Amino acid sequence: MEQRYFPENYFKRLDEGSDHDFYSEPRKVVHIDEEAIAALQAYYAKHVPPHGDYLDLMSSWRSHIPPSLDPISVTGLGMNAEEMGDNPQLDEFIVHDLNVTPMLPYPDNRWDAVLCAVSIQYLQNPIDVFRHVNRTLKPDGIFIVSFSNRCFPTKAISIWLNMNEEEQVELVKRYFELAGNFTDIQTKAITPDGQDPLYIVSGRKALDL
Ligand SMILES: C[S@@+](CC[C@H](N)C(=O)[O-])C[C@H]1O[C@@H](n2cnc3c(N)ncnc32)[C@H](O)[C@@H]1O
Repeated sequence: MEQRYFPENYFKRLDEGSDHDFYSEPRKVVHIDEEAIAALQAYYAKHVPPHGDYLDLMSSWRSHIPPSLDPISVTGLGMNAEEMGDNPQLDEFIVHDLNVTPMLPYPDNRWDAVLCAVSIQYLQNPIDVFRHVNRTLKPDGIFIVSFSNRCFPTKAISIWLNMNEEEQVELVKRYFELAGNFTDIQTKAITPDGQDPLYIVSGRKALDL
């Protein structure tokens, strides 16, 4: 599917081995510093509907949802059951490899918000995944993608490693545009007080006409 929009080699990775193997050992760590986490929480506090059903896409040990939001439910989808089992904010989770199966196993119009933190660089079929995010969001529901300047380089797609951070923001924005049915696509570069920069690209599911 992505080859319709981008050269095929954009989505290759140095390590083309199974993601299940790579993520089989739990890593109970955070992947951005506390200042960047605080900035992400502040963004969520302002833009995520406060009492809703959330999907933490590419989930792990922490979901960075601020206490002010009081979610109805938080569902995790990621690669390591032990990490997600130890995430205090998740009500339920599934292990699901999006690079093998980009389809999301959820009904239409399920989520008020889908959150994808510091993981977008690992998706090999992003347009298909974004279409399923759109399908499973409620109308006007928000999809928030955040990233910094760190990654597991052997697992990041090759085009990501060849772009600067401004170009990465444009690439993610393009994912939203190509997936279709997203409106209010916004980008934001934040410079928290710590070491890690934070970039956010978000979009809302278009309202039914
Ligand atoms: C850098 S961690 C970020 C975890 C979490 N979102 C956070 O903010 O700390 C990258 C996450 O992406 C998930 N991931 C990587 N490849 C994936 C794939 N093919 N399908 C689903 N999830 C994947 C892994 O489970 C891993 O937890």
